[in-house]
Amino acid sequence: MLRLDTRFLKDFPEVLKAHGTALLGAQETLLAKRKDPGAMLGWMDLPEDTETLREVRRFREANPWVEDFVLLGIGGSALGPKALEAAFNGSGVRFHYVDHVEPEPVLKLLRTLDPRKTLVNAVSKSGATAETLAALLVFLDWLKRERGQEWRRHLVLTTDPKRGALRALAEREGLRAFAIPENVGGRFSVLSPVGLLPLAFAGADLEALLMGARKANEVALAPLEQNLSLQTTLLHHLHRHLPVTVFMVYSERLKYLPAWFVQLHDESLGKRDREGKRVGTTAVPALGPADQHAQVQLFREGPLDKLIQLVVPERPTEDLPLPEVAGLEEEAGYLFGKGLFRLLSAEAEATYRALAEAGQRVYTLYLSEVSPYAVGWLLQHLMWQTAYLGELWGVNAFDQPGVELGKRLTLALLGRPGYEGDGSVEISS
Ligand code: PA5
Repeated sequence: MLRLDTRFLKDFPEVLKAHGTALLGAQETLLAKRKDPGAMLGWMDLPEDTETLREVRRFREANPWVEDFVLLGIGGSALGPKALEAAFNGSGVRFHYVDHVEPEPVLKLLRTLDPRKTLVNAVSKSGATAETLAALLVFLDWLKRERGQEWRRHLVLTTDPKRGALRALAEREGLRAFAIPENVGGRFSVLSPVGLLPLAFAGADLEALLMGARKANEVALAPLEQNLSLQTTLLHHLHRHLPVTVFMVYSERLKYLPAWFVQLHDESLGKRDREGKRVGTTAVPALGPADQHAQVQLFREGPLDKLIQLVVPERPTEDLPLPEVAGLEEEAGYLFGKGLFRLLSAEAEATYRALAEAGQRVYTLYLSEVSPYAVGWLLQHLMWQTAYLGELWGVNAFDQPGVELGKRLTLALLGRPGYEGDGSVEISS
């Protein structure tokens, strides 16, 4: 369950009514594109895809020997699985993410892994991402050396159903390859096999995760008063003149969720609109309570240039009572007998009030608890919010032209044939 609290944004209910027509207009334009495969709206249908869920489960059951799961992928191909696995890993399988190209950590990982117990999952929608291809080269070579004829059993691919180097490799070598639907882009793919496959090995409740996402779909299409996605969309739209949007999560289990949100928000919305005007707000990740001892100083007393969204669980899935310890009554007596979760809630509430009191624009999204159902709902809700904002801001939330130049320059610097001309850039003043 997800609940929006706008108590410090006093006139919000009236403002919501006043913007009803614009919001419903954005919704209508977005939904009108649903049947167009090029519109990349396939993420809306992923929560209903029970066939993929079955396939993923069958694959997990067929491979009970896996003790280490190595995901090779970057951006949308890694951030979602990493966030969810950190929250819901209950299987004891160890997860490793090669979402970088720094040699030392890769070497360290290779030295610690037991190849007989390791499953490598290379994830790339395009099959053309240099970081992922480099990692694949390393791990393919390692598996062939360590496992000989058996190497195929240790490699599973997640990629486009038809195109790209990974799909071609799967076909040539007879490898198991899961499909990311053509109309689903990287940062919207967490509920495709990109996330579901690793999470099956993590032992997460996938059915509940997808059920939560289905609920988000229902809510995102509900009338305005019940439509959480249009409501938070409006909060971001109204504050688009503030350059920063903070995403602060009060859950250690969800510590990688802000990174997932940052990518979703920034890569989808930071671009030129139809008139060529630069638009977007910069999402900043934050974690409570750790950042109360770091970023919150700035959030409270620094510039009033932010919309701050707090994500706070309302109850624990399991609590830890704080024991009484003799000799610590004076300093810690107020904690004795309380659950640890009570402290977490009090800190979130205190931050909420302190930020509002300082004049920052702040709202809270309460999660009933950190469960697959509630988090599935949250993820899908944030995807709707992003898509609706794309309509309101006049940008295509599903492309990333700004990423392309950096990719081309990298290939030019590495001497890939056909990219020679991309080696120099003109710096515009
Ligand atoms: O959201 C996106 O499209 C990107 O962040 C991609 O996920 C990222 O660039 C990796 O791309 P690919 O999955 O094609 O390797």
